[in-house]
This record gives sequence, C-alpha cells and structure tokens, in this order.
Amino acid sequence: MAIIVDGKIAIVTGGSSGIGLAFVKLLQSKGCSVVIGDIQFTPDAEALQNNKLAKVLFKKTDVTNWKELTDLFTFTEKEIGVPDIVCPSAGIFEPSWSNFWNDTESQSYKTVQINVEHPVKATRLAIRSFIKAKKPGVVAHLSSIGGQTTRLNIPIYCATKSFLNHFVRAFSDLEAAENIKVIAIAPGMVATPLWFKENKERLKSVGETDLWIQPEEIATILYNVCVDPAYKGGTVIEASGQGQTRQVEIFNDPGPPGIGHKGGANSELEKDVYDLLQKEKSKL
Ligand SMILES: NC(=O)c1ccc[n+]([C@@H]2O[C@H](COP(=O)([O-])OP(=O)(O)OC[C@H]3O[C@@H](n4cnc5c(N)ncnc54)[C@H](O)[C@@H]3O)[C@@H](O)[C@H]2O)c1
Repeated sequence: MAIIVDGKIAIVTGGSSGIGLAFVKLLQSKGCSVVIGDIQFTPDAEALQNNKLAKVLFKKTDVTNWKELTDLFTFTEKEIGVPDIVCPSAGIFEPSWSNFWNDTESQSYKTVQINVEHPVKATRLAIRSFIKAKKPGVVAHLSSIGGQTTRLNIPIYCATKSFLNHFVRAFSDLEAAENIKVIAIAPGMVATPLWFKENKERLKSVGETDLWIQPEEIATILYNVCVDPAYKGGTVIEASGQGQTRQVEIFNDPGPPGIGHKGGANSELEKDVYDLLQKEKSKL
C-alpha cells in the first residue's frame, strides 16, 4: 500500500528553491507539514506559510555546518514532531567559487561538503530519528544524470552524484529490516535557479536537442518513488523528462538513453578548460 503523507512530517534541505521548493509545495498540497532547512528563505517559499492545508516552517541552516544540520532535526521534532520523510535537496553545481579548475579553496571543497557530506550526515540523523521514534521513514536523495555521465569542466559535481548513487544502494536491505527506505532520483536538466542564477555560463553547454525538465515534474516523480511500495529502498531512478523514468542499475547499466541527456554542446565548456591549461603552460 502506498504511504499516506497526509498528516505526516518532512524535512527538506534546499527547500527554498528549485526542485526542493517544488517538493515542499507538493508535500504540503497532500497535507504533509514541512520544515525547510536552507541558507535563504525565498518569497516563493515564504508564501507557502499562507496555505493552511499543512504547516511550512523555515529554519535557517547551512548544511555544511553539522551543528546546524542537527539543530534542524531538533527544531522539527520540537515544533511539529519526528520527520517521516527527509529530503536532502540542497546542492550546488560546482560553481566558479568551488570548482576543480578554479582551485580557489584552501582547505576543502564546498561542492563536496554540500553535495556529499550533507546528504550522508542527513541520512544518519534521519535514521536515528526514525529508530528513536520507532516509526518507518523515507530518505529521498537528489542525484543527477551527471552521476552517470562525465563532464571535464565539472568533474567534482559528476563524482558527487555518482557517490550518492552508490551510497543509496548500500541501504537496499534496510527497508526490509527496519522499514527505512533510502532512495534517490537522478534528474536530467531541470529548469531551476541552479542554472539560471548562479551558473549562467553553463547555459552555453545546452544543445538544441537537450531537454529542459520542469521542477514540478521531478517533484512528482520524487514523491511517487517515496510513497509507492513498488520502488524499493536502495533504488536510484533516473528522470530524464517527458515522463521518462528508468532504474539505474548497479552493474552493466546502459546509461541515460537517447539524445537530450548528454549536454549537447558541452565541448564549449571543455574548450574553456583547455584554454585555461594553455595559459598555465604559457607561464612555465
Ligand atoms: N537543476 C538541475 O538541472 C538538477 C539536475 C539534477 C540534479 N539536481 C540536484 O537537485 C538538487 C536541487 O537543485 P536545484 O536545481 O533545485 O537547485 P537550486 O539552486 O534551485 O536550489 C538549491 C537550494 O539549496 C540551497 N543551498 C545551497 N547551499 C546550501 C547550504 N550550504 N546550506 C543550505 N542550503 C543550501 C540554496 O539556497 C537553494 O535554495 C541539487 O542537489 C542538484 O544537484 C539538479
């Protein structure tokens, strides 16, 4: 039987924008109260507080700060109860300030902290909450088609999503053992501020055959994978637009099908990498 989310509780990190925001909206429309943990509280997210169907609360949270991430769970439990669904949606697209090639960071990569360490820690915190409350739960991760393909200009991003795919698969036995379902969806190109606000230069990698997906479509697929028992824990579901979904297999996976999922014009961005290397060579 499908999980009923009416009256349930969710935590969505990165829930102020893009896919996370669309997921918060969808959960609220189904009667699920949500706590958003994000560094920003956008007007679109704030507007959800006027909808009385279910609560939407905001807790300012930098997901790279583990105390703040832990406080997000404590806040949720105190204000509305132990979560049933945890979605660590906050993520960055290896922007210029945390990019392998720019090499501007001195201690560690924010892209890794946000895209890897945060979903890992959030999973641990979620499992601890579910166990303590003796209730079933779902942890729903945002991977990417980038976890299967590679792009020279954003090698860390692709690797972080590949990490998530394998991390999620490690929990495939947890659902039968403890009724805790850990899943991921791996979308293609989703039209969100991730592209249009911070990483506009990446738009030149979008080819004519590439396909934009709306965040609402991804939120619906994410929701279905969470609630439908046909999707088992440990599953990674690719979502490549126009309703196409596919399970990403652990062995011998054929990769994303067809045109539209490969970043048709990515060679433009790869050229920037080779130009940079040329400049470094000329300084030798
Ligand atoms: N947009 C795409 O094409 C696409 C495709 C595949 C996967 N994804 C993944 O989906 C997830 C959501 O992406 P999106 O497109 O909705 O992006 P988005 O930029 O619209 O939203 C990301 C949210 O994360 C928040 N965030 C960033 N750093 C944070 C931090 N340190 N602490 C707390 N919050 C922080 C931002 O404030 C923002 O509200 C990401 O994990 C992304 O990698 C996106």
